[in-house]
Amino acid sequence: MCTDAIFCSVICELSIEKLVQGGEGLARLPDGRVCFVRGGLPGERCRVELTAGKKDFARGRVVEVLEKSADRAQPKCPLYGKCGGCSLQHLDSAKQVTYLERVERENFKRIAHEELPADFVIHQGEPWGYRNRARVVYLGERDGHCRFGFRKQESNGVVAIESCPVLTSGLNDFLKNAKPSEIFKGLKRIPRDLELNLFDDGTGRVAYYYRGMPEARKRESSVSCVKIGAKQIKSDASVFFQSNLSLLPRLVQSVREAVDEGIASGAASDEWLIDLFSGVGFFAALLQDKFKRITTVERDGLCLQYAKVNLSATDSVENVSAPAEEWLVKNVVDIPATLIVDPPRTGLPPEALGAIVKSSVNRVIYVSCDPVTLARDFAKFRQAGFALKRAEGFAFYPQTPHLEMMFVLAR
Ligand SMILES: C[S@@+](CC[C@H](N)C(=O)[O-])C[C@H]1O[C@@H](n2cnc3c(N)ncnc32)[C@H](O)[C@@H]1O
Repeated sequence: MCTDAIFCSVICELSIEKLVQGGEGLARLPDGRVCFVRGGLPGERCRVELTAGKKDFARGRVVEVLEKSADRAQPKCPLYGKCGGCSLQHLDSAKQVTYLERVERENFKRIAHEELPADFVIHQGEPWGYRNRARVVYLGERDGHCRFGFRKQESNGVVAIESCPVLTSGLNDFLKNAKPSEIFKGLKRIPRDLELNLFDDGTGRVAYYYRGMPEARKRESSVSCVKIGAKQIKSDASVFFQSNLSLLPRLVQSVREAVDEGIASGAASDEWLIDLFSGVGFFAALLQDKFKRITTVERDGLCLQYAKVNLSATDSVENVSAPAEEWLVKNVVDIPATLIVDPPRTGLPPEALGAIVKSSVNRVIYVSCDPVTLARDFAKFRQAGFALKRAEGFAFYPQTPHLEMMFVLAR
């Protein structure tokens, strides 16, 4: 929404200098202000419609590319620019990681005033058909089948979808074949704009969940089981789970290597693994063989129930349902325990970070889905004597500007 009615819908010719966090191109207006341009690529000259004007910066969107980058691609999806996802489809899939690496290096320098290590690497998987989790809006019935939509770009409106090229074939089959008579069986009335969480367990079997789902249906339809190596992890379409199952084993491998390295070096011990923001106990379940004692801490009560199933129950396993910051403040960590944190986009709550740096933990494995809050939190860890030992990226969300990251910090 434009904040300046006169300023908006003005068209300018601008040169895009670089890509910035969020995937927009950065250009300069004739008055010197920075303009964030949706759909622009570095090196391009574009006609840009200004959509918002502030004192220090402006926003715009490309309406015509006058001089085109060699890395520009034709967006594959007809809903590009309308649907809220996949805003980077205009950039060649094979080049996205190179651009995102540049963005992350610059982002880290700007926020943390430090360089990412020279060996920072971004692991890649399939550019299309990778996404095994989605939230869709139910739009009604046609010929006995459900019609679904995605939330629109920068609005709460909904755009109808037939299929989506980043979703797994299992999820696309669901979008095509789902019948309201089955999905909403037992529901007296289907609320308007009802949202459904969909989850493909990696085999094409789709679990789904919507608010108000009858309890009996929940057990039948929302539970899922994912195989990671030899381990089965039980989860549910109503709670958090990673959304790129084909690349997830690479993240697990990196976390396992980081754990082994910490124990081998003596900087962290195998006496105690603390997995904070643990979801269904994902990392702890995959690392249980390495530790004498394990604590998982997760705020969501349902996740806790799954964590209890996913970790073999022994006297040395404790699954806690509490905010991580509260648990950290109330519990004394007085040995150099192995600590994994995987907070939501907002990063670590300040109380949690404060308690970690005051504890005996000397090595932190920090998994993050937001490089900006990760860089912010790293700067605070550094003030407490931690240094960045290892940084890896995971292209979990191709066609979007988002990245998953793993940092290893030690003091
Ligand atoms: C990014 S997910 C990570 C989950 C898990 N590590 C995994 O890989 O599946 C973040 C998790 O943190 C939980 N969470 C959010 N805020 C929290 C808090 N303050 N304390 C504990 N858990 C929290 C969310 O419910 C969510 O399950």
